[in-house]
Amino acid sequence: MQTINIKLTINNKKYEMDVDIRKSLMDLLREMGFTSVKQGCGVGECGACTVLVDDVSVDSCLYLAVWANNKAIRTAEGECKDGRLSPVQEAYVEEGAVQCGFCTPGLIMATTSFLEKNKGKKLSREEVKKGHAGNLCRCTGYQTIINAAITAGKK
Ligand code: FES
Ligand code: FES
Repeated sequence: MQTINIKLTINNKKYEMDVDIRKSLMDLLREMGFTSVKQGCGVGECGACTVLVDDVSVDSCLYLAVWANNKAIRTAEGECKDGRLSPVQEAYVEEGAVQCGFCTPGLIMATTSFLEKNKGKKLSREEVKKGHAGNLCRCTGYQTIINAAITAGKK
């Protein structure tokens, strides 16, 4: 096993560690206890493993942990500050956008990234839908998720 030493920030906390060059960021985060990062397909199709790397949403199953060197990672755990849900997390609760919840942490991060990227823009429902195209949900039928993203955008 070949390892490389990396330094990274996860949810505003700094870490330094040796990582296997073949390990995905998803596996690293889950092993570190960030279990909001879900493994669904493992091949970049479902979005369950979505995290933000320097504020850009990525499928962490396709992203090598070593690529995260000197970068800032955000996971759904870190969006909750001082026991308070983020506006996006709040909107998911308000709109009932969660059923089994497996897709939810990845979707929360996809919505967060989408709204940060489009801050101040007036978005159509269609644009919001397209902005979530990389994340699959088996339960909700998507309407409540899109409602949640629209509600969060107004907060
Ligand atoms: S687990 Fe990464 S996209 Fe499905
Ligand atoms: S709430 Fe079950 S997969 Fe989305």
